[in-house]
Amino acid sequence: MRKAPVTPEIVGKTAARTILAARGHNPLVRKGATISAPMVDALLRRGIEAIWIADDVFPEFEAREVVRHETRELIRRSVQEIFRRVASTKGHRQAKESLEHRLADAVRKLVEEVSSNEDVVANIGRVRAWDNYTFEHSVQVATMSVVIGKRMLMTEDQLVRLGTGAILHDVGKVTVPQEILQKPGPLTSEEFEVIKTHARNGWDIVHQGFQNIMPTSSIVVLQHHERLDGSGYPQGLKGDDIYLFSKITAVADVLDAVRAERTYRANHRPADVLRIMLQDAGVKLDASAVQIALRHVALVSEGEIVRLTNGQVGMVTGLNAGEPLQPLVTVVGDDLDMPVPREELDLRGTELQIADILENWPPGLAQRV
Ligand SMILES: [Fe+2]
Repeated sequence: MRKAPVTPEIVGKTAARTILAARGHNPLVRKGATISAPMVDALLRRGIEAIWIADDVFPEFEAREVVRHETRELIRRSVQEIFRRVASTKGHRQAKESLEHRLADAVRKLVEEVSSNEDVVANIGRVRAWDNYTFEHSVQVATMSVVIGKRMLMTEDQLVRLGTGAILHDVGKVTVPQEILQKPGPLTSEEFEVIKTHARNGWDIVHQGFQNIMPTSSIVVLQHHERLDGSGYPQGLKGDDIYLFSKITAVADVLDAVRAERTYRANHRPADVLRIMLQDAGVKLDASAVQIALRHVALVSEGEIVRLTNGQVGMVTGLNAGEPLQPLVTVVGDDLDMPVPREELDLRGTELQIADILENWPPGLAQRV
């Protein structure tokens, strides 16, 4: 299998993994199905950027997922339900308590999974639906935050509190009108002011509505847009006036946003993500959290077609913790896209890096190898 961006080019290919719909029961694409033009439209309408398809060059390859699909689903569902309940402003106490328990269970599972993998590289997929964006984003941000917290040697209890805050960080978005949240173009300054209210509104929601959520978790909701240099919101806090959990969540939040923006658009270069994050490290974002994130959150995922800095083409077939641009790549083509004997290169400790993520195999190469 390989990861392919959703474009008309994938029509006629075979789906290698099921893509669940945001809501409802019928998957958007079923494993084994031949992808049709209407399916591509449906995926694009939901903002799904990439899917897993069967690949002729690497038919046997199975990409690993660090956080199991079931855990991600569990978290996504609890978050979705919390958002829905708070949006409807109703919901009596018992219902809220059971929801809190479910959320706590989901976070504990996430912490367990991240903790059980000593050499964890958060291989976070880019498959996300737009009407589902906030939920997926919440799962990603929570996963990355826990990965960072674990590397800072936090206790399990601390990781659970950090993860809970990170999952809920954007809950205040329920108070922002959909037309602003989903506006395709740039926002006016008035609209941006409305977006900014989500931090304080979210904190109010968690603080008033959910008794069992610790203040050290809910503070993340209030502070995740604060920046070290005081340029953030809502309070314009500086440096150590910002709580550590909030600083970590801010790094995860920015990293996920930058990755999502860069992928399959603009210039596709993972090195740009690295550069953007490093620019803000120590200025706006906590430097050690950025360092850890860049070492332990992969900037490419398994199953992506990449071109190396020496021009060779191959697929990412493994990841190296600590080397976000230097994974294991099985090369199949040279710099002129002519086939070469298949070889898995470990880029760690070499001069080679990922130069580009490609949308497809170069023309003709797939037939020749
Ligand atoms: Fe936010």
